[in-house]
Amino acid sequence: MAATQYLADWQAYPFQIDQTRLTFHLDPRATRVLSQIEFRRIAPGDLVLDGVGLTTLHLAIDGKPVTATPEGERLVIRDLPDAFTFQAEVQIDPQANTALEGLYLSGGMFCTQCEAQGFRHITWYPDRPDVMAPFHVTIHSDMPVLLSNGNPVSQSAGMAEWHDPWPKPAYLFALVAGDLRAVSDSFTTMSGADVALNVWVRPGDEPRAGYALESLIRSMQWDERAYGREYDLSVFNIVAVDDFNMGAMENKGLNIFNSKLVLATAETATDGDYERIEGVIGHEYFHNWTGNRITCRDWFQLCLKEGLTVFRDQQFTSDMRSAAVKRIADVQTLRARQFREDAGPLAHPPRPDHYQEINNFYTATVYEKGAEVIGMLKRLVGDDAYRAALDLYFSRHDGQACTIEDWIAVFQDATGRDLTQFKLWYTDAGTPRLTMTETFTDGTLVLDFAQTTAPTPGQPEKPARVIPIALGLIGPNGDQVLDTTVLEMTDATQSFRFDGLGARPVVSLLRGFSAPVTVTRQMSPADQALLLAHDTDPFARWQAGHDLALDGLIARATGATGGAEFIRALAGVLDDAPADPAFAALCLALPGDEEIATTIATRGAVPDPDAIHAARRAMMTEIATAYEAQFAGLYDAMATETYHPDAKGAGRRSLRLACLAYLSRLDGGDRAQHLFASADNMTERQGALEQLIATGRAAQPLAEFEAQFRDNRLVMDKWFMVQPLRAAPGDAVARARELAARPDFDWKNPNRFRALIAGLTANHAAFHAADGSGYDFVAEWLMKLDPVNAQTTARMSSAFETFARYDTARQAKARAALQRIADLPGLSRNTAEMVTRILA
Ligand code: PHE
Ligand code: ZN
Repeated sequence: MAATQYLADWQAYPFQIDQTRLTFHLDPRATRVLSQIEFRRIAPGDLVLDGVGLTTLHLAIDGKPVTATPEGERLVIRDLPDAFTFQAEVQIDPQANTALEGLYLSGGMFCTQCEAQGFRHITWYPDRPDVMAPFHVTIHSDMPVLLSNGNPVSQSAGMAEWHDPWPKPAYLFALVAGDLRAVSDSFTTMSGADVALNVWVRPGDEPRAGYALESLIRSMQWDERAYGREYDLSVFNIVAVDDFNMGAMENKGLNIFNSKLVLATAETATDGDYERIEGVIGHEYFHNWTGNRITCRDWFQLCLKEGLTVFRDQQFTSDMRSAAVKRIADVQTLRARQFREDAGPLAHPPRPDHYQEINNFYTATVYEKGAEVIGMLKRLVGDDAYRAALDLYFSRHDGQACTIEDWIAVFQDATGRDLTQFKLWYTDAGTPRLTMTETFTDGTLVLDFAQTTAPTPGQPEKPARVIPIALGLIGPNGDQVLDTTVLEMTDATQSFRFDGLGARPVVSLLRGFSAPVTVTRQMSPADQALLLAHDTDPFARWQAGHDLALDGLIARATGATGGAEFIRALAGVLDDAPADPAFAALCLALPGDEEIATTIATRGAVPDPDAIHAARRAMMTEIATAYEAQFAGLYDAMATETYHPDAKGAGRRSLRLACLAYLSRLDGGDRAQHLFASADNMTERQGALEQLIATGRAAQPLAEFEAQFRDNRLVMDKWFMVQPLRAAPGDAVARARELAARPDFDWKNPNRFRALIAGLTANHAAFHAADGSGYDFVAEWLMKLDPVNAQTTARMSSAFETFARYDTARQAKARAALQRIADLPGLSRNTAEMVTRILA
């Protein structure tokens, strides 16, 4: 087992780097990397360099060969002068690199991935984010397009030179060499500088890159407008690659993207894909200031750049599309991924203080909760103070590698507020539970709040946090009697009173989801229905309906009756639907099996996956029967003419598909079959296909889909994903096994692997099949992938993180599957850490 790294052990690096020069001679099996690094001492200490899997050919200090022998993955050189040039020549094998970390090949093109610690797979270097340097890079290769960070210096046949003047850590280094075509435009920044913009794709993919390029321009405009941030190089390059472990990477001036987040046409990408492309293009672009110009001192501070950049991309999407719909979608993701993480064995604070493998900490907690914490901060200090604090952050810390303490100090200095207690949101794990009880007498409403946070691994005590509670009051006739007010809770228990009320109001609580907490309160179905009909806050309105549905589903899944009030309240939702189709679609979507299971577990009971699945299906059929005519009318009315991937059209299609899901419970898939055959866009084709799979009428459509898209990897990923996802739970594992046996199940490609395996784990009743077949299948494939790509294996092992909430028979089967993974000879450090934590 690898050694644990602790935040408390961080020490400054004793040298500064004035210049890093790299020369690459690219070759698939034997790439040579020459480095020349100018070090200057700033504190006493030895020179420590990181390197993994390098064949070292030559090492020199100031031109004199040195004979240091690597100590494992480190090279230590002692007795050095105060300024010197370190030179190395190493050889690496990109073709053997299936982990996709460092320099590797994807579809015949060379590319790199260096975050978090990939650069040490390229050459000897202080591979830590607080060592920043300007880079000068020379590439020798017969590939036609040769790219690196910064501005181009010179290009000639077989060679290119790049210079990046902005000091950066090694994790932001990138190099690309391949037969690529650019889709190009230009941008003039607010101070009048011209920037060449290129999206690089494989020949033939040019017609699919336009939306990414438009999204980049919108991102650049938005960051100038919303944050006053301007771009700082003469060129901005984006490259699409097919083999990539994550979504995308913010390398300075040379973002590298998973091709699924670049390539899109109406026929091949869904509305969801378009929205993600815009959001991730924005995210990576926004990193130029929040991540690159100001970076992290160490990897414990990862949420400094990721939480802030997610928050910024969420703001961007809200501005480009519907803020209400975006907020609801973000909260759903947060609950599904982060609350789940926070409630289980993998719980950790947004700023962890120890880890074994940093790649296991690119989590929903660091990203999504990191963003929520910033949203709370903004709500507490107000919009103007937030902007002032950000201005101070950029001016004070430009060019530095910072900590969460620096970030908090900026807000304290800009606002004069003491944020000591607020900092607990960064250092403590777990989701606080907020309980509210209310009493109403003689026109006075008293709200008693209590907060508690359950212990998490390594953190038994949980002091009270600052919780901004946004609420409003709705009168019995549906009028708002108190506009949104933010209460600041700082103690474990606290009361607030509201006087002068004519009648008992209904509390619209946690408006806009003002804090990442779970709420416990007694509320009658009638009050929930009142909020669903009248709340002026769209998030709280949606939440009221969602809770009503969830309570009904839980009652049914645990042998009681329920759901009648929700079904009745849907009449109003359907009446209002044409005015805001996207919002209506969210209100119509029943909570998923996973959320129902989570909520049952949170309430102290043991979820039964089969009962949950059956209850949900039965309720859908009942709703469909109750409103068949309305669904049919809306289904027809929401047809779109020419396809545009904008929010308006996407909203209409989402409502249309929500209606189709209900109608397919009654028409046996007739409408879905017709839509599948006639739709001119992937959103509706995939939506129809999913319904056909669920109704068991998909054999022919699946064959047609395959025949049409067999040569398009990204579309075939959808084909691999929807089958295990939408198959009846009893058939899904068998179907997944058949798919895994196909020659086109190119499992070394992370997108393809994830499509099939995560498609199955997202089918709750199938993954948690009582016979353990879901667990066995997933464990088998994780064991197969681990030696090839440990990062993706480890990340996907979190499918098991909830196993302890199921019955003892399922628990035993999951535990046995996990134990088989743990016992695998040569198991990676990545997966070993995950499995050990899950089993603990
Ligand atoms: N830093 C990337 C992002 O969030 C994510 C990433 C991490 C990509 C590690 C690759 C490897 O934008
Ligand atoms: Zn990021």
